[in-house]
Amino acid sequence: MHEDTKEITELILEAADKARKETSAEPEPTLTRPVDWPTQCTVGPGLEGAIACETKVGYVNGTRGWLIYSGYDIFDLCAHSTFEEVSFLLLHGRLPTDSQLKTFKKKLARYRHIPETKRLLLGFPVEEMNTMAALRLGINLMRQTQTYRDRKEVSFPDIPEPISSDEDSIPMETVPMGEDRAIYEFPRRVYKRPEEVSSDLLGSEEVESCYHLVAGSASIAGTIARVRQGHWPLEPEPELSHAGNLLYMMTGRKPTAEEERIMDVALILHADHGMNASAFAAMVVASTLSDIYFSVGAGVAALNGPLHGGANERALYMLEEIGGPRNVKAWYKKARAQKRKIMGFGHRVYRAYDPRARVLAPLAEHLVGKNKNKKAWPLFRTVQVLENEVISTLGKEKGVFPNVDLYSGIVYSAMGIPPELFTPIFAVSRVSGWTARILEYLKNNRIFRPRAVYVGPFDRKLAER
Ligand code: COA
Repeated sequence: MHEDTKEITELILEAADKARKETSAEPEPTLTRPVDWPTQCTVGPGLEGAIACETKVGYVNGTRGWLIYSGYDIFDLCAHSTFEEVSFLLLHGRLPTDSQLKTFKKKLARYRHIPETKRLLLGFPVEEMNTMAALRLGINLMRQTQTYRDRKEVSFPDIPEPISSDEDSIPMETVPMGEDRAIYEFPRRVYKRPEEVSSDLLGSEEVESCYHLVAGSASIAGTIARVRQGHWPLEPEPELSHAGNLLYMMTGRKPTAEEERIMDVALILHADHGMNASAFAAMVVASTLSDIYFSVGAGVAALNGPLHGGANERALYMLEEIGGPRNVKAWYKKARAQKRKIMGFGHRVYRAYDPRARVLAPLAEHLVGKNKNKKAWPLFRTVQVLENEVISTLGKEKGVFPNVDLYSGIVYSAMGIPPELFTPIFAVSRVSGWTARILEYLKNNRIFRPRAVYVGPFDRKLAER
């Protein structure tokens, strides 16, 4: 165990111990046995309770507050594995051997270089765009370079010579055209649409596309962060981990071993979470035999909403609005009277403390408490008081407990990441889960097609308008 990150592992193990004492890991019979199709289930609005497929990717027991990825408990994965291992696990259903991990890391390092996508992306006003819109755009631009090409030329980019982040030293042919915004001249290619759009997704390179998306989406998030700060996007650093690279490319600063590990754990925690709205959105698009880049773009769009991934950013704004631990009681009373949703609390599936929040809470405290981080420490103190208030009221009455989004913002904030980048970080991690679920579903694909019950009139006449 690395000396600098030993304390983090201990905190995760303590959180795991606490969780195991307060709850128990038990599979729910109806959600953990093979389905005999067609099956019967009780379905609520928003498809609540509907069973759409079988999976080996991951399982959430909401009553117990238990989360597993391909058979491994989330606490064990956080304590003893890395995001790279977890991504491999989700995509292949097993943890990698040493040599598989080495090859996988090499591939991610290669796919982190997305020069053509970056050039295309920088032709848009990224600094003014909603960050999730920019991420979705970037992912669609990755598709442009991968999907529309001659089938005979199927290849993934090699690592180019790294170019310096110092603008003055960039070779002439990549010098920005135009002063206000970086618009590049790049060789025009004639892209050839494959005969069937689906053929790329279902071809031999399908898993490569997933690797490409896992690695490339992080570089897009890094590009967005840098451009918004008015800086030149950075090239990835080959010696850094996925988490380390993400932090470096976003902040321009090499992270400490501790920060790198905490980000690694945060990425593990966000990598998959059942058939939630964004996973479902991505799977619905994939089920039409569209392609995986479009599907992941749909996942990003769904994750953006404040009821889903967008809640982490809103939770931080909410804590800022409260303005300190002493204001919590009055703020909460008013919020409840106004029937406001308290961001970072509640979940469609969990009726217990979200295990991801159990891990992130002590890590947030560790990170911000250590240096009494000026901005994040008062937020942490506020969230602690708020958590007690909510658990003793909404928790008891309605099973509303802290979720993953309550503490992630404090962690990212303490690392110097602005709130508008929180949801893109979530998305970059979740690409692993989305692509894993898509690959699995496509093996027995059936296009998603629920029905709506028509309750409108039948006898309207145009003449009566
Ligand atoms: N604040 C206040 N009340 C909440 C709440 C919250 N964060 N979450 C749920 N409730 C209330 C609901 O209004 C509902 O009340 P009612 O019975 O009087 O109608 C009750 O608790 C049960 O809600 P439930 O059916 O479990 O919620 P849902 O499945 O409709 O919604 C969320 C789930 C996630 C959309 C909801 O909890 C929410 O909006 N949370 C805040 C946003 C957030 O943090 N999202 C991230 C999720 S990871």
